[in-house]
Amino acid sequence: MPSVLPPGEPAPPDGSLPASALAELGDGPVSLYLHVPFCATRCGYCDFNTYTAAELGSAPGSSRQAYLAAAHAELALAARVLGERPVSTVFVGGGTPTLLEAAELVGLVTAAREHFPLSDGAEVTTECNPESVDARYLDALVAGGFNRISFGMQSARAHVLRVLERTHTPGRVADVVGWARAAGFGSISLDLIYGTPGESLDDWRASLEAALAQAPDHVSAYALIIEEGTRLAAQIRRGDVPAPIDDLQADCYELADDVLSAAGLGWYELSNWSRPGHECRHNLAYWRGASWWGVGPGAHSHVGGVRWWNVKHPRRYSAALAEGHSPAAAREVLDADARRVERVLLESRLADGLDSEVLTASERARVPGLVARGLIEPARPDSDLRWSSAPGPLSGDRGAGPSSPPAESGSLAPLRLTRRGRLLADAVVRDLLD
Ligand SMILES: C[S@@+](CC[C@H](N)C(=O)[O-])C[C@H]1O[C@@H](n2cnc3c(N)ncnc32)[C@H](O)[C@@H]1O
Ligand code: SF4
Repeated sequence: MPSVLPPGEPAPPDGSLPASALAELGDGPVSLYLHVPFCATRCGYCDFNTYTAAELGSAPGSSRQAYLAAAHAELALAARVLGERPVSTVFVGGGTPTLLEAAELVGLVTAAREHFPLSDGAEVTTECNPESVDARYLDALVAGGFNRISFGMQSARAHVLRVLERTHTPGRVADVVGWARAAGFGSISLDLIYGTPGESLDDWRASLEAALAQAPDHVSAYALIIEEGTRLAAQIRRGDVPAPIDDLQADCYELADDVLSAAGLGWYELSNWSRPGHECRHNLAYWRGASWWGVGPGAHSHVGGVRWWNVKHPRRYSAALAEGHSPAAAREVLDADARRVERVLLESRLADGLDSEVLTASERARVPGLVARGLIEPARPDSDLRWSSAPGPLSGDRGAGPSSPPAESGSLAPLRLTRRGRLLADAVVRDLLD
């Protein structure tokens, strides 16, 4: 069961944006996200906005063709609203994008290109379920302009894949990665999940080693989240399946960080590791508060401080666009403080760290305490900031007290989470924020 959308203010039917948002964007590039809301079967743990053929039924408006027509119409709408400007990253996610024919998937990217010139070296990614493609399919994606692919590997253990209700066999990943490399993808990523009920630390080590045996350029490792309303949540509630164990998930995270770092994949975001130069630029754009347009049912967008989200059901999505309307369900214009808090939440996830200029004086006064507890540290080892464990203004600060405004831009060193801090990221950021 897909989760519920947040409330918000009405979004204009023509999709227009406040002048302030467009002014902030200037001539700058945007990123594009395309959401494909179809899966062959729903995995028991997943509450993403995706539908099986049985869930969609045969009503007009929920077919693949209706979705494709609507997604093309939304790309045209995005071009009318944003004007001609470069696109630096395109990311097709899902759902299962590779349930579309290769020509349909390529057609979406070709349409994006017709509306927006791609920047030099633009990153063009698709997510891909290992069981859904063959070598010819992957060749067609590269010929059509894709240069990055992210496979949903999840685990190398058959019993773990079974609990997750994944439909591929462990050996399938080696096949698809081999085909992707032969096809010429410049960057290959593997998604892994840890903390599945019944998975031991040794199972997880085996999955990490199996992933590394494919020499990926990038690995995302996510702690399994038990989402309300999923089959897995019901199985756990009934006692049919044990709940994930927090301490084991923490051990899995540390093991992932050790094993992946030792193999030359450095962490650059809480759940993401890559070879140098293979960081996912599309996701970095999200975390750095850049502007992106999300095309598709339930897709979220952000442009210059305005956030909006589309209606979730493919039928309502297609109907809105068929009538010439924006598919946005609602939007939110962020004020300066909401944007500041969002920056802290997102940038603190990054190894490059959070610019401490964004913190208020009272938040900065909490930094030494968090440093003393081993939860945050300077993001750059060469920082000239002298960290004090005593509560009070930071050394290197200009002596701001709790009532002083934030320091001027660039006057303080960036901060990042230590590894212990990464394990407690949400709590650390809650402790830091006013
Ligand atoms: C939503 S999927 C879309 C791509 C593709 N269908 C797949 O499954 O790989 C993207 C990633 O989110 C992960 N994911 C979905 N639900 C999750 C959950 N409850 N906890 C952790 N990861 C989750 C998936 O396993 C997958 O790696
Ligand atoms: S294949 Fe991916 S998107 Fe589809 S249900 Fe499974 S995890 Fe969710």
